[in-house]
Amino acid sequence: MSIRLIIMGPPGVGKGTQANIIKDTYNIPHLSTGEILRNEIAAKSDIGVVAKKYIDAGLLVPDNILLRVIENIISNPNCSKGYILDGFPRNLQQVDDLNGLLNKLNNAIDIAISLIANEDELIKRLIKRSEVSGRSDDIVEIISKRQKVYWEQTAPIIEHYKKIGILKEIDGLGTIEEITKRIIDIIK
Ligand code: AP5
Ligand code: MG
Repeated sequence: MSIRLIIMGPPGVGKGTQANIIKDTYNIPHLSTGEILRNEIAAKSDIGVVAKKYIDAGLLVPDNILLRVIENIISNPNCSKGYILDGFPRNLQQVDDLNGLLNKLNNAIDIAISLIANEDELIKRLIKRSEVSGRSDDIVEIISKRQKVYWEQTAPIIEHYKKIGILKEIDGLGTIEEITKRIIDIIK
């Protein structure tokens, strides 16, 4: 079985936490563009040097960089059985870019999962995480900025996946295990 998933939702909603569990359930890679960019920053690569300025400010990294990153990985043989995209696409241009790549590879996304939770809960989770994460964007002002950027630039992509009939909205409140069960029930 091959399955291509997108997991989306605002910062702190649990995209990474859930993708990390689901990847083992379906034996597919978890592709987190945030993680990939943080690794590029740690390696001080060309991409990392540019990405750092945007990530530290809570802004989206330019689309041309993301296209390079994603093109590189989804054409990789270890993605032939599918994958979970976490944090990409993140605006309408990236939806177009992804559709272009998928067309070239002659495949498509099966399910787009949109996790939902209220902003108070998200801020609470991220402030708690900031005590241990070491993430440069886990500071109060930037946590709020990231929420704002999500609603302005990322939320509009939900409509695209609704229109093509593959959107599944899932309540992101509850225990991690409860949410995993909701996701797996929907994939089945
Ligand atoms: P990215 O790394 O994608 O971060 P994000 O979207 O801001 O989301 P987070 O990783 O903070 O949250 P999450 O939803 O993964 O939640 P998590 O599971 O960690 O992006 C970072 C930056 O990179 C962007 O701002 C941008 O600059 C750049 N970038 C990345 N992709 C890009 C793209 N495509 N285009 C342009 N720029 C891009 O959970 C959060 C916390 O809550 C954790 O501590 C977790 O333990 C806890 N938690 C999880 N589930 C629960 C639960 N059910 N109950 C209680 N706590 C929970
Ligand atoms: Mg994450």
